[in-house]
Amino acid sequence: MRYSSLPAAVGLSSVLISGAIAQITTVTVSAPASECSQSSPTGTGTGATPSATKELNDYALEAGKLYFGTASDIPPVDDQGAELYDQAYMALLNDSHMFGQRTPANIQKWMFTEPSPGEFNFTGGDQFISWAQEHNQLVRCHNLNWYNQLPDWLANGNWTNATLTAVLEREITAQITHYGDACYAWDVVNEAFTDDATTSIYRDDLWSQVIGAPAYIYLSFQFAQAAVEANNLNTKLYYNDYNIESPNNKSANVANLVSELQARNIRIDGVGLQSHFVVGGTPSRAQQLQTMNSYIAYGVEVAQTELDVRFSSLPYNASGLQTQKENYRDSVGACVDAGDACVGTTLWDFDDAYSWVPGTFEGEGAADVWDESARRKPAYYGVVEGLTGEVVPDPPGTVSGPGTVTRKRGWKGRGVGRGVRRG
Ligand code: XIL
Repeated sequence: MRYSSLPAAVGLSSVLISGAIAQITTVTVSAPASECSQSSPTGTGTGATPSATKELNDYALEAGKLYFGTASDIPPVDDQGAELYDQAYMALLNDSHMFGQRTPANIQKWMFTEPSPGEFNFTGGDQFISWAQEHNQLVRCHNLNWYNQLPDWLANGNWTNATLTAVLEREITAQITHYGDACYAWDVVNEAFTDDATTSIYRDDLWSQVIGAPAYIYLSFQFAQAAVEANNLNTKLYYNDYNIESPNNKSANVANLVSELQARNIRIDGVGLQSHFVVGGTPSRAQQLQTMNSYIAYGVEVAQTELDVRFSSLPYNASGLQTQKENYRDSVGACVDAGDACVGTTLWDFDDAYSWVPGTFEGEGAADVWDESARRKPAYYGVVEGLTGEVVPDPPGTVSGPGTVTRKRGWKGRGVGRGVRRG
């Protein structure tokens, strides 16, 4: 039983963990004793991992990264939100040794932030940020322009180029201005390119239909730049997409977009490589590095923004878990190989119980680093291997399979349904 009767995140006192981090000489890890335990009904106990133990964010900082982070879907955007009541989950999320950054999986998306035209609701986003700050964690803000999870009034509106452009400017300006420097970065435009460029390299959606592409992409970055400059912010402006982690037409299109924005004196600071991978089908470390370098060559930074490695069929077994471990190692390792210009890796949630994968990819799952009982999978030690460059055998107690995932998450409401299958 992982759920208690009290929301763990509500009323938590601040647990800021800082101080010098010892140099790594060897990487020895021991099995965490208490990740499944229910140490405290309020979640304010010692937490899932003893603070003396080095965890993922510690290793990332030692590797010169800004953070190792995770997405999280709190506060809830629907009637689920079980994470908040899950002691093991919340203790891991709130451990800044484990995560130095968090990204809202849903709460800052347009359907939640502007439910009626011109009426913005920042309550959930403010809550997300204040919880992150309580735990000394940066926030990547996600996202400003996307084709998916739009409010009904926007998705179904009758727009002209001028009226839709005005709505786009209003939303980008409002969000950037409201959150200010609480956002380390904003994903300004998300998923603008198609995988299969038969008619156009740009996705056929509201934005490309009404405003035209790449015009709406340029406008989005211009509006974002204007808001950042007007408020004197340090927030980084990112383009974010999937299937752009290996050399292909889509990643070439993204590199070209960076170049075209720069040629127009429009600011872009980073490229987010979502990194939604499949066990056994993950691009090699060298391919990931090569692709990152194709963006870095333009002087922008890069980040792995949504890393997960899913099984395309379940149940998984012990050898699949080892392949997943290697895939995590190679992905995180590519960011280390890229040096300072790859600022960090974000998992798209860390616990199989709350992954978006089973709700989006029928029959697939177990994509995360902890299993759905909050036990470490070999993938955890793969991440440590990627960050440290050391071989890290799985300690006793590591999940060894076989296993499956039964829980299905995912926002099934308005604004969804035009998605494309990934990978
Ligand atoms: C996903 C969320 O995790 C789900 O809860 C939601 O139902 C759909 O969106 N790429 C992105 C993220 O940029 O915003 C998506 O998040 C996953 C794919």
